[in-house]
Amino acid sequence: PKIVLAYSGGLDTSVILAWLKEKYDAEIITFTADIGQKEELDGLEEKALKTGASKVYIDDLREEFARDFIFPMFQAGALYEGQYLLGTSIARPLIAKRMVEIARAEGAVAIAHGATGKGNDQVRFELTAAALAPEIEVIAPWRLDEFREKFPGRAEMIAYAEKHGIKVTATASKPYSTDRNLLHISFESGMLEDPWFDASAPEVKDMYVLSVAPEDAPDEPEYVELEFEAGNCVAVNGERLSPLGVMEKLNELGGKHGIGRVDMVENRFVGMKSRGVYETPGGTILFTAHRKMESLTMDREVMHLRDSLIPKYASLVYNGFWFAPERLTLQALVTESQKNVTGTVRLKLYKGNVIGAGVKSPVSLYNPDIATMEADPSKAYNQGDATGFIRLNALRLRVGAGVEQNRNNR
Ligand code: ARG
Ligand code: SIN
Repeated sequence: PKIVLAYSGGLDTSVILAWLKEKYDAEIITFTADIGQKEELDGLEEKALKTGASKVYIDDLREEFARDFIFPMFQAGALYEGQYLLGTSIARPLIAKRMVEIARAEGAVAIAHGATGKGNDQVRFELTAAALAPEIEVIAPWRLDEFREKFPGRAEMIAYAEKHGIKVTATASKPYSTDRNLLHISFESGMLEDPWFDASAPEVKDMYVLSVAPEDAPDEPEYVELEFEAGNCVAVNGERLSPLGVMEKLNELGGKHGIGRVDMVENRFVGMKSRGVYETPGGTILFTAHRKMESLTMDREVMHLRDSLIPKYASLVYNGFWFAPERLTLQALVTESQKNVTGTVRLKLYKGNVIGAGVKSPVSLYNPDIATMEADPSKAYNQGDATGFIRLNALRLRVGAGVEQNRNNR
């Protein structure tokens, strides 16, 4: 039988590769999605083959990731628990989608992954697989007693790896777990499990990958201009770029200026709280710019309706329901809401801050003639109308207050 394994080349998935092969007497096809994890892909094919893979897929999905996953999510303004830009969450459905395509093409009986039984990722992979390929089985070794008994700790895994000729790299000994892609890098576990541990302290400087610390960022601010069409960024500093190009450019700028670091305790779907540290340099610039573009171009009621749905949308992404009907339904609303979100935003990047420095649009809803404190040349707004507006809105407040007064006088 054939099994398709989501493979990163790290200690866990290397051990899983060898273990699956032994346990199921199966052909193991590894799949790695290139979604912008850069150096982590170096030597991956060779390593997978040496570890016993019969076939290796490494697919460049970066453009699709940016265009069909990151961009629609940023149109929604999604933010989980007020802080997390969902960098890992949004990548999982794409990885799982491609994985089941490969499983079908190869006639594989199952897909396998190295996510633990305590996390969100297992849920995201498997809900996606269920939605797209309900017939395919999933093997999650970390949820099998047999596997956990064999590998109670890192030491046993390293010993097993060495026995199977798997090279254990320095990254396998880092005291925390990471996940990197085009949108972010995450850090969890190890010393970060203590929420009182200061992840911004100078001693942990070396952990960070995508950004400098704000205090080490240039003393000079840098301006950047983002151009939007229908809620999507299409150009940076006057240069037209693909979604992938936009993300790469903004990551470079954000990283240089120490933008987008977040340290939080979040609620996992499986019920526990967990501490995570994130670097999302480009995403943070994009998120801020997009909101500023909307401020000029989006109808108030459309904005407030969409805003009311942000926590729901973010939870759907976080919990792995990207390919669920309710996310697709919400997306239709979001996409419609973005029709007019077109124009240019200018920002100033400075020591971890993204500072608004101007916004303009050919389809702006902002009318200085109406808003002005001076005499209104447009005659669209009559200040006298506000008297009746306030009186009617105050009616029920007056009635309620009167009842309250009578009660107190009794
Ligand atoms: N806590 C984040 C999330 O649930 C990051 C997960 C990181 N995953 C990983 N395999 N290291 O989206
Ligand atoms: C894991 O548990 O595999 C990583 C963390 C997560 O999925 O939340």
